[in-house]
Amino acid sequence: MWQGLRSGIAREVIEKVRPLIDNQSRAPAAQVVTTPDLGSIYLNAQPWSLTISDNMHTTFVFDREGRPVSCFLGGGNYRFGLSGDVLLKVAAPQSPKLRRRLPAEEAARLRATVHAHVARIAAGVAHALSDELRGWLDLILAWDEARAQADRQLFQTIYKPVSIVPPDQYRALVLQMTEGCSWNRCTFCSFYRDRRFRIKSPSDLRQHIRQIKAMLGRGIGLRRSVFLGDANALIVPQPRLRELLEVVRDELPGQDLYAFLDIFGAEQKTAEEYAELRDYGVRRVYIGLESGDEAVFGLLNKPGSPQQCVAMVERIRAAGVQVGVILLAGPGGATLARQHVAQSITTLAAMGLGAGDMVYISPLIVPDDGGYAERARELRVEPLSQPALDAQLVELLAGARAAVGGGARVALYHIEEWLY
Ligand SMILES: C[S@@+](CC[C@H](N)C(=O)[O-])C[C@H]1O[C@@H](n2cnc3c(N)ncnc32)[C@H](O)[C@@H]1O
Ligand code: SF4
Repeated sequence: MWQGLRSGIAREVIEKVRPLIDNQSRAPAAQVVTTPDLGSIYLNAQPWSLTISDNMHTTFVFDREGRPVSCFLGGGNYRFGLSGDVLLKVAAPQSPKLRRRLPAEEAARLRATVHAHVARIAAGVAHALSDELRGWLDLILAWDEARAQADRQLFQTIYKPVSIVPPDQYRALVLQMTEGCSWNRCTFCSFYRDRRFRIKSPSDLRQHIRQIKAMLGRGIGLRRSVFLGDANALIVPQPRLRELLEVVRDELPGQDLYAFLDIFGAEQKTAEEYAELRDYGVRRVYIGLESGDEAVFGLLNKPGSPQQCVAMVERIRAAGVQVGVILLAGPGGATLARQHVAQSITTLAAMGLGAGDMVYISPLIVPDDGGYAERARELRVEPLSQPALDAQLVELLAGARAAVGGGARVALYHIEEWLY
C-alpha cells in the first residue's frame, strides 16, 4: 500500500510520517523496559503499527493513528474493526473454536481496559523510551471512548456494512464500488438482504475513496490490497467498470485489486475484458461454486451451474487473472452428502487450478430466512450432525488438496471470523 500511495492524495500524510520513517533507520524501533512494578514491557514500532507486549502474556497492536487493531488479553484474541465492532476468538484444545462479536457495551468495556492498561504502561516506562515510542503512546492514549464512538459514526456515513471478503483479503482496504448483490436470491446467503444492488457513479466512488482515506489517515498503511465490494462488483458492464477502475487507479495508484463475482456475472465478460481487468490490476476473482453437484446446487438457488463455473474459471485464468473458488461444507445435509463431496472434488479437479489460485471451504451456517431450510425440508433432506459436518469439512479439505495438486492453496473459510 505504501508504494502505491506515493503519488495519491495521501502525499501530505506521507510527508507527515516521513521523519518517523527516516528516523527508524537510525533510532531503535524496539525497546524493552523493565521496572519493579510492571516487569518487562516490550514495544516494537514498525512503519505502520506498534506492538506492546506486557511480560509476554498480554499483547496490543495499534495502527499508525493509534487506533487499536488487535489484542491478546486474558486468553482471548480480540480484533478491533474499523466499524467499531470487536471480534473475540478463543482456540482451546479439545473444544470448538469460539468466535463471538462483542455486544456494544462489552466492546466499550474492552476498549476502556486496553486504554487503562496502556496508560499504566505509559506512566511506568515513558521516561525510558525514545521520542518516537513516546509519540506512539501519545497517539494511542488520544483514542478515548468519545473518539472511538465518533470514528464508528463516521464509518457508518461512509460504508454500508462490509458483510464479507475472502480470508486472504482480511487486511484489504474495502471500497464499496457497488452495493449489495445483483442476484441476492441464493437460499443460504443473507449477506446483502439489507440493501438494493447499486453501482456508484464515478464521482460518488471518488468521494467514497477520499472519505475512506481521510478516515483512515496513516492507518491506511496497514492495508495490503484493495477489495472491490460488495458481492459481485465486476458484474458492472465493461464501459462503466472502466470508468470506475480509472477512478480507483487515480486515487489509489498501483494497487492490487480483488473482487467477488458470481457465475452468472462471470459469463457476462469476454476473455478480452478479463485481460483488460488484469491490466487495471485485478489480481484474483473469487467465485462461489458452493457445490459441484447439480441437486445441491439447485437447493441453493445459485445462478448458473457447476459446469458453467468450470468454463468461467478457465476463461478468467486464461486472461492471467487468478481465481478463488469457494465450496460449502454441509449443503444437502446427510441425504446428499456423498454426491456433494464427490461431485465438488471432481468439479474442482476439472478447473485445472494452479499457483496463485485459492480454494476455500466454508462450513454452511443456515440462516433463519432465505429459504434454504424450507427447501431442504420439502426435499426431505436430513441435516448433518455437527460431527458429520466436521468430518465433511476435513474430507473436502483433503479432497480439494488432492484435486488441485501442489498448485493452488486450499483453506478453511469461516464466515464468522470476518470483521472490517
Ligand atoms: C459474497 S458470497 C459469494 C460471492 C459471489 N456473489 C458468488 O455468489 O459467487 C461469498 C461466499 O460466502 C459464503 N457464504 C455465504 N453465505 C454463507 C452461509 N450462510 N454459510 C456459509 N458460507 C456462506 C459462500 O461460500 C459464498 O460463496
Ligand atoms: S451467494 Fe453470491 S450471488 Fe448468491 S446471494 Fe450471496 S452474494 Fe449474491
